[in-house]
Amino acid sequence: MPLPTVPTDAFLLNLPKAELHLHVEGTLEPDLKLTLAARNNIELDQKTIEEVEASYQFNDLASFLAVYYPAMNVLQTEEDFYELAMAYFKRAAANGVKRTEMFFDPQAHTSRGVPFADVVNGYYRATQDAAQLGVSAELIMCFLRDFTAESAAEHLELSIPFKDKILGLGLDSDERNNPPAKFADVFAKGRELGYKLTMHCDIDQIGSIENIRQVIEDIQVDRIDHGTNIVENPDLITVVKEKGLGLTCCPVSNSFVTADMKAAEITQLLRDGVKVTLNSDDPAYFGGYIGKNYIDYAAKSGVSSAEMVQIAKNSFDVCWISDEQKAQYAAEIDAYVANFHE
Ligand code: ADE
Ligand code: ZN
Repeated sequence: MPLPTVPTDAFLLNLPKAELHLHVEGTLEPDLKLTLAARNNIELDQKTIEEVEASYQFNDLASFLAVYYPAMNVLQTEEDFYELAMAYFKRAAANGVKRTEMFFDPQAHTSRGVPFADVVNGYYRATQDAAQLGVSAELIMCFLRDFTAESAAEHLELSIPFKDKILGLGLDSDERNNPPAKFADVFAKGRELGYKLTMHCDIDQIGSIENIRQVIEDIQVDRIDHGTNIVENPDLITVVKEKGLGLTCCPVSNSFVTADMKAAEITQLLRDGVKVTLNSDDPAYFGGYIGKNYIDYAAKSGVSSAEMVQIAKNSFDVCWISDEQKAQYAAEIDAYVANFHE
């Protein structure tokens, strides 16, 4: 019997998986932050790794974002963006990640005077070099939903010369008073340009259910980031299943921005046949890469090894890749399970 009787940490860490909800700026570890600050002559309030870690005080999305954006000041040059992404790919590879479709926030950099091209070119070069680590990586350009729709439209225009380097569009930052409908025109134009579409539907937001309805019916996204609040609405569960939409859940992140990791909700959706996936969101801030998300979720939920394998299979199934590539990754999981020994 190759499946472990309970999903052990080693089994979950090395299980082949895709990471589909990862903000590359959220992988800025304290040591790299200090290194980049020194290199770029940026004055920081914190001088040691411990001081940087101590500054990570948040208990909801808004207080997290208030820590998150200022930290990005240390990212200045194309090389900085390259190094940040490469550091993530090394950790991803060590967590069994074979494929990632990862977010970046250009407006968090252009708003500080960093050229759009430096951001995209640095990240893109890293995605190419990720192949040497056994990780296939592509980029999703997110708009900041607390910025204007005009700013999003301007960045969509800026992206056109780089279209071959960007797989899709996303929407992140503070959901409060910034519903999906605010960006309907920008995302419609993005669809015409050939981008895949996803949007954050963060956990327990005011208007979560209406916002999820908008992303499905009005925006017609190809995936939903978070979105576990559909457990409150059976009609939304039905439509998510009918459309085969993936949900990119982030249990460790959930436990920082809400009271718990929402393991019960994720399990309910998994057992109902929704294509839920597990991801790390902003691992440098929430203290755990994707392997920890698999391990902590399995421990909290008590799901079986077979159910954890299903989650990993879901992660490839809802990637924006060809059916042939999906089949190859599914076969890779099957081979891993067949050869696993406790
Ligand atoms: N930006 C980085 N992480 C985010 C999250 N979990 N929700 C919204 N915006 C984010
Ligand atoms: Zn996120």
